[in-house]
Amino acid sequence: MKILVTGGAGFIGSHLVDRLMTSGHAVICIDNLYTGRKSNNAQWLDHPNFQFIEHDIINSIAIENIDQIYHLACPASPVHYQSDPIQTAKTNFLGTLHMLELAKQCRARLLLASTSEVYGDPLIHPQTEDYWGNVNCTGIRSCYDEGKRISETLAFDYHRQFGVEIRVARIFNTHGARMLENDGRVVSNFIVQALKGIPLTIYGDGSQTRSFCYVSDLVEGLMRLMNGKYIGPVNLGNPGEYTILQLAQTIQRMIDPTAALVFKPLPQDDPQRRQPDISRAKFHLGWEPTVPLEEGLSKTIAYFRDRLAN
Ligand SMILES: NC(=O)c1ccc[n+]([C@@H]2O[C@H](COP(=O)([O-])OP(=O)(O)OC[C@H]3O[C@@H](n4cnc5c(N)ncnc54)[C@H](O)[C@@H]3O)[C@@H](O)[C@H]2O)c1
Repeated sequence: MKILVTGGAGFIGSHLVDRLMTSGHAVICIDNLYTGRKSNNAQWLDHPNFQFIEHDIINSIAIENIDQIYHLACPASPVHYQSDPIQTAKTNFLGTLHMLELAKQCRARLLLASTSEVYGDPLIHPQTEDYWGNVNCTGIRSCYDEGKRISETLAFDYHRQFGVEIRVARIFNTHGARMLENDGRVVSNFIVQALKGIPLTIYGDGSQTRSFCYVSDLVEGLMRLMNGKYIGPVNLGNPGEYTILQLAQTIQRMIDPTAALVFKPLPQDDPQRRQPDISRAKFHLGWEPTVPLEEGLSKTIAYFRDRLAN
């Protein structure tokens, strides 16, 4: 198959590219390298089945004969999506619009990488896909949360109005190799701080919860969704729920038991609880995560240890 991956030079996208290339597909990666790195695709750059196109999807692009589009392009960490919020909103609206137009023209199936952030600061727990969310539309996270909500709306309207085949994944916190060390996400923050011997920063009292999915599990879920019959939206994440304090203590124990923990004020609109209900993914995709937290963390730690050493 000829498969387009937007955001394919980023963290999740590059792991997906690896899986697709290894499976023998022809892969086109579109990325503007805003948070992605060409080096994440290094092993494929000279491969005859791989094409890298540096392009910003807020502008349209013409490509022919594509069978599937995995649409992942969008900065995912608050530090990056908030540094240019208008660009983030444009990427989510115009970028998704352009990719849906491409899907319509090529009669390709498009999978949208949406997010648990569409639930905002959720009032139900754990979050099921039929929950409509509790999102602030004027806050500093809105360019991303509301951006992903309009992306989902566009996908479903292209499906209803033009018959475009869509799949919608709501991804929860994911970690693994190729995350950026400066992206402010909690797993990379704690690991990099512990490796550098500086105190681990906990925002708030650390009682807020998150779930952490290892990237190989997530990529498997994305591929099952794309190639299955179920449109979604479907939560993809690890249902294991940990407080931020528990995560900090686990990483502290795994890297440096003497590392200090410091507490700082909670940022605006930071969700209190986050845990996916993955019943739909289990039922429709036969999918659930298989990598336990500490096993995944040890791989992520090994990656950052290597990266900081070089
Ligand atoms: N990592 C997570 O925990 C997580 C959680 C929920 C949802 N997601 C979603 O998964 C997708 C991938 O996330 P990630 O963690 O790999 O993030 P990432 O920042 O590593 O990757 C995003 C990629 O998109 C590219 N990009 C951004 N704007 C673009 C534009 N306008 N045109 C072309 N390319 C552009 C970036 O350069 C980068 O390579 C995103 O859509 C994100 O919203 C990720």
